[in-house]
Amino acid sequence: VTSWLVNGQRDGHLSPADRGLAYGDGLFETIALRAGRLRFLDYHFDRLVAGCKRLGIPAPDCSQLTRELEASRQDCRDGTAKIIITRGLGPRGYRPPEVVAPTRLVSVTAADSSAAQAWSSGIRVRLCTTSLSENSALAGMKTLNRLEQVMARAEWRTPDIAEGLMMTEAGHVVCGTQSNLFLVRHGTLLTPPVDRCGVSGVMRRVILEEACRLGIAVQTPVVTVAALAMATELFVSNSLQGIGPIVRWNDESRATGELTRSLMAALVQRGVQECAGD
Ligand SMILES: Cc1ncc(COP(=O)(O)O)c(C=O)c1O
Repeated sequence: VTSWLVNGQRDGHLSPADRGLAYGDGLFETIALRAGRLRFLDYHFDRLVAGCKRLGIPAPDCSQLTRELEASRQDCRDGTAKIIITRGLGPRGYRPPEVVAPTRLVSVTAADSSAAQAWSSGIRVRLCTTSLSENSALAGMKTLNRLEQVMARAEWRTPDIAEGLMMTEAGHVVCGTQSNLFLVRHGTLLTPPVDRCGVSGVMRRVILEEACRLGIAVQTPVVTVAALAMATELFVSNSLQGIGPIVRWNDESRATGELTRSLMAALVQRGVQECAGD
């Protein structure tokens, strides 16, 4: 059972008129709680605060959020923390209120045995038919508008497929339903840009930092399905699972590549134990 702090109140009231519910007018963060620590919390705050600025929502007080996350955690050491910030209440209609009082929701869910299968030993992915829309005004942010991901994730139920890759209508492969995408080609690490659609992932940021530290060349080109087929290594990433090497794709099997392995080892050093494998 997950309990929520609503504007600091345990299981407080959320109005049906909240703009987060009515219009998806807000942002969220999903944070890994590991061994009692909220992993990369500062990076999650960076994305949240930057998103609030772009949307014109007053930025939350990060020390207050940290206190509320710690209070929600109680003695839980491993699980998933979530923050939702909305533009709060407003009169009927899309027009944002002159004075915004954001709504702040915080929760921690303990990890349980039904948690998603570990990604580190390699995952199978599919290509989704639901497409991603491009909109540079929203790109990169983790907004509450996730219908594209919901529809894409509804495309399959087989548990052996861990993730679905998503494309724009122009055929550019951008990300997974809940992850960022990386390719390796000629020793260069490639990841699609997230300036027209997609989420600027926290784990993507950590991976790019580690690639830089390891002296790996990085590029952010537009990626097509043909480019996926030519890649020597493929993997996805997110905050909760670290790196998921794509080992089955298009009925073709492949082993986890060298460069992926070195990035996974670097992530273990950054506290992403999931990348250590079983
Ligand atoms: C659509 C989408 N892209 C990318 C990511 C990865 O982001 P992060 O590394 O911050 O978890 C997520 C995470 O859930 C996501 O939902």
